Amino acid sequence: MKPQLHSLLGIEQLTTAQIESILALARRMDPSRPSQLLRGKRVALLFYESSTRTRTSFEFAAKTLGAATTLVTPVSSSIEKGESLIDTGWTVANLGADAIVMRHANSGAAYLLARYVRVPIVNAGDGMHQHPSQALLDALTITTHKKRLNGLRVVIVGDVYHSRVARSNAELLSRFDADIVFCGPPDFVPEISASLAPGVTACHDLNIALQGADVVMALRVQKERLAGKHLSVEDYIANYQVTPQRMMLAKPDAVLMHPGPVIRGMELTSEVADGPQSCIHEQVRNGVKTRMAILAMLLRAAR
Ligand code: NCD
Repeated sequence: MKPQLHSLLGIEQLTTAQIESILALARRMDPSRPSQLLRGKRVALLFYESSTRTRTSFEFAAKTLGAATTLVTPVSSSIEKGESLIDTGWTVANLGADAIVMRHANSGAAYLLARYVRVPIVNAGDGMHQHPSQALLDALTITTHKKRLNGLRVVIVGDVYHSRVARSNAELLSRFDADIVFCGPPDFVPEISASLAPGVTACHDLNIALQGADVVMALRVQKERLAGKHLSVEDYIANYQVTPQRMMLAKPDAVLMHPGPVIRGMELTSEVADGPQSCIHEQVRNGVKTRMAILAMLLRAAR
């Protein structure tokens, strides 16, 4: 089936065939070889929240395909004068944007804008809800090493509750019958989170969760969020930090992933982040390829 996506808002809107098509296209993308595939197109990067990897990779992806980009952030735009999201979206579209890549602190923001603006919207992260391009680049990284997604045991450890990365990954991986384990303190991994998608279970003991893991995905853990739940940094580190010793509980060929930004010494140690099982740099590189595929698919389909 040829995918005919208008916008990329969340993993739930994609068929399994569409996920496979995006991954196949991403594998063929070469960020070191600029092309003119999207010549004449304009991509607006509307970022209400800070970002390094996601924003830069969308920008490089668009430019590598020959599109022009512009960055709109609250500072130094009319957003700081109080303009609404929808009015800003309309303005950017009327200025000539052919697609809007958008990050916002509110869950559902990209879905809202997509209802009002005709141009394709790419959700680059909406609150605690979805981050579909991250899940796609993570799937690309996993398949490079494991050659499949089906049946893998993927342990996602950290502040799962607040993580749009965890949500999008779980939804994507569950399509492929992966065994997904959310792991962290009960406040960060409520039992209810296991009902998110088929194949997801919750576990509060990392030493048990890691046994037989093919993929260990650590998430950023913010000190303020620990404090808000009366959890101490020391307890978090003692129970949930990914260390070389804990990595030995996973399969010998397990890979270690992290969407970034990595807080070294908190969710994982530097030995693990920089160790032989770490795919963190590869995830970043795959971000450009994956976002090239997403933009190519949306903008060519929109023609
Ligand atoms: C994540 C995000 O912003 O959702 N980072 C990313 O996009 N690579 C994860 C995070 O900030 O914790």
